[in-house]
Amino acid sequence: MPIPATQFIWFNGKLVPWEKATVHVLSHALHYGSSVFEGVRAYQTPNGVAIFRLSDHTQRLFDSAKIYRIPMAYSPEQISSACHEVIAANGLTRGGYMRPVVFRGYGELGVAPRNDPPTEVAIAAWEWGRYLSQDTDELGVDVCVSSWQRVAPNTLPALAKAGGNYLSGMLIGAEARRLGFAEGIGLSTDGTVSEGSGENIFVVKNGVLMTPALSHSVLSGITRDTVIQLAKERGIEVRECAIPRELLYLADELFFTGTAAEIIAIRSVDRITVGNGRRGPLTDTLRNAFFGLFTGQTPDKWGWLEHVDMAAKPRAVAAG
Ligand SMILES: Cc1ncc(COP(=O)(O)O)c(C=O)c1O
Repeated sequence: MPIPATQFIWFNGKLVPWEKATVHVLSHALHYGSSVFEGVRAYQTPNGVAIFRLSDHTQRLFDSAKIYRIPMAYSPEQISSACHEVIAANGLTRGGYMRPVVFRGYGELGVAPRNDPPTEVAIAAWEWGRYLSQDTDELGVDVCVSSWQRVAPNTLPALAKAGGNYLSGMLIGAEARRLGFAEGIGLSTDGTVSEGSGENIFVVKNGVLMTPALSHSVLSGITRDTVIQLAKERGIEVRECAIPRELLYLADELFFTGTAAEIIAIRSVDRITVGNGRRGPLTDTLRNAFFGLFTGQTPDKWGWLEHVDMAAKPRAVAAG
């Protein structure tokens, strides 16, 4: 789906017109994948537009940059406030998806240059609907286990949300789509379940909620953490553990979590039906709790919602 353009992108400290947020072809990140990024959603709520868990996303952005030793010229507060600015300046009153990206820019080329190329930072926002599930919300999606494994723990750090890491996800996702599935699941190098190309995965078996531990080459998903907290609050037992592939086939329910995908049921894996072949009751409970955060039905006792002042005047807009 083409990106529906909005008016402004925050680029290196200023709002610039959408089409002017461009980079040099010799930018380091374009050649070596040396970018770190976030995907953040803002929702329409009864009290106006709110960004979900922005401080956690900003923290993970800085964590990813730290792992790859990418120097940051802005503070977490500046990045968070720029996210607010981008939502307000673009008038995204129905909420939207934000993409902060930090990358090694144009300066020296070479895998590990002597002098760091300048770090560039951009934050775009636009309206983005359902990621995996257009018409299959009730039923869930059909997925496969990929022939591509996830990166081994001592190769690329899975806890960094870095551009280069997504080459693995691209192979997994593209193979799945080529074979007619909505998404692929990568196994860790020990053969146990890791995650989807852009989602964490949960297994429900006999009332227990299981998800691969962080040692299984997964991204430490913020939706994953949200679901874990919502489940524990409802007295559901949660285990972060190794999950054998065949448990995917034997599960009562399966679902993916992610900022883009939100919470989406999986109805079959490798053409084997999961449970009743449609979204199950525990998935329903957790989905309702999750989406209830945005309708007000689930009290936000964690302070996860950050309201955006849509009337805030954007700071000066650069001519580009
Ligand atoms: C590889 C991968 N795993 C998991 C997730 C889910 O993480 P989050 O819930 O923080 O969006 C994402 C999406 O960001 C991802 O790209």
